[in-house]
Amino acid sequence: MLGSVKISRTINPFNKVIDVPGDKSISIRVILLNAQSLGESKIYNLLESDDVKSTILSMKKLGVVIKKRKNFYEINGVGLEGFIKKKSIYINAGNSGTLARLLFGVVSNLNSDIYLSGDKSLSKRDFLRVIKPFKMFGVTFKKEKSTLPIIIRGTEYLRPIYYEENKGSAQVKSAIMLAALRTEGLTVIKAVPSRNHTELMFKKCINAPVTITKKNNHELIKIKGRHNFNSFNYKVPGDISSASFFIVLTLLANKSKLIIKNVNINPSRIGIIEILKKMNVNIILQNKKDYKGEKVADILVKSTKNIKSINCPKYLNTKSIDEFLIIFLLCAKAKGVSRFNGINELRNKESDRLRIASKFLKMIGIKVEEKSGSLKIHGKPDLKLKGNYFVNDFQKDHRVFMMSCVAALTLGGVFRINDKISINSSFPNFLKILRNLGAKIS
Ligand code: S3P
Repeated sequence: MLGSVKISRTINPFNKVIDVPGDKSISIRVILLNAQSLGESKIYNLLESDDVKSTILSMKKLGVVIKKRKNFYEINGVGLEGFIKKKSIYINAGNSGTLARLLFGVVSNLNSDIYLSGDKSLSKRDFLRVIKPFKMFGVTFKKEKSTLPIIIRGTEYLRPIYYEENKGSAQVKSAIMLAALRTEGLTVIKAVPSRNHTELMFKKCINAPVTITKKNNHELIKIKGRHNFNSFNYKVPGDISSASFFIVLTLLANKSKLIIKNVNINPSRIGIIEILKKMNVNIILQNKKDYKGEKVADILVKSTKNIKSINCPKYLNTKSIDEFLIIFLLCAKAKGVSRFNGINELRNKESDRLRIASKFLKMIGIKVEEKSGSLKIHGKPDLKLKGNYFVNDFQKDHRVFMMSCVAALTLGGVFRINDKISINSSFPNFLKILRNLGAKIS
């Protein structure tokens, strides 16, 4: 039983300060890098979710010792050459596309058969995007196919590559960067810009010889291997993707105010903030700080009437890729028609989020026009729901579950939302924080 929740009342006005859990992208990268480092590291505020647990487990399978201490995780790095020597190793990446794809880089020089699998949703997602560059590195794949399970066979003789990454995928880019560390020579990636946590950690945490030059609408990333590196301690900032559900909840709630502390506001991640500002909402970033190259701030947000629709510029797509579902919900209450183009990558996430967003919005009475890579949303500022709504066929996607809860708590109606367990992949205490804000959820 995957569990369900019932929400039959909108949330009362609130004025609170909250924390959201550690950033998922950063948590996964910090574990993978420290596992391959030399020495012991301490990681604070690591996200404790299923995707991160799968990451820890995958490193344990490779022989890395990781222990949970009182308020940190301790990792004993084995270096680039120190993974376990075994003929076959079985790794299950669960629901995590980031882990599964980054692992290609981590195991690329391992002379073992890595049996990589994932859950039902991950087994439907495209892996050709990583297989292609890794064949160029010299990695081989048994029974070649584009979906998991896949058997990866690394090589000690990795060749540096030149690769053009044109999807704006940080997962593909990061997987290549991780392999580049293990390669003798210069790897060059011409990439459409995407989240740059790996680049920042390469520069600020492991001192890797990496240079990045921006050219028109792409970046040239050059990494010189082989680069062995020492372990580093890290305190993971809060996840903007998790914060975004509370931002929109506050905007759509009545007379409410919320401060979300210590959130990562890396410019490559805050498309949502740029979009919200264009939509005329009350949001301020305060107490800005720098941490190992990452930007961190407190987010102050207040309920907003008169939300404007948006014609979303394409350059914001990769910067808000994980936040579109909740942005679409906000557009349902905006005045006018909102337009999003070039968002076909949304179809390749934990679910087909473009399909699901239009299905959900239609269910709540919003006119939408869905094309292969675009969405038009005809907002209804006075939208108030009555009656019963079931969210039960939405492919167990954690972000669909959380978006549905925000809709139920701000629009009215009686919602039954299935697949509560999906939130474990990124945000296990989501419902607890909602209840602390006063939400009635049964
Ligand atoms: C991520 C990159 C994005 C994002 C995912 C996390 C990462 O995926 O959607 O949730 O940590 O690198 P793509 O690289 O497929 O765009």
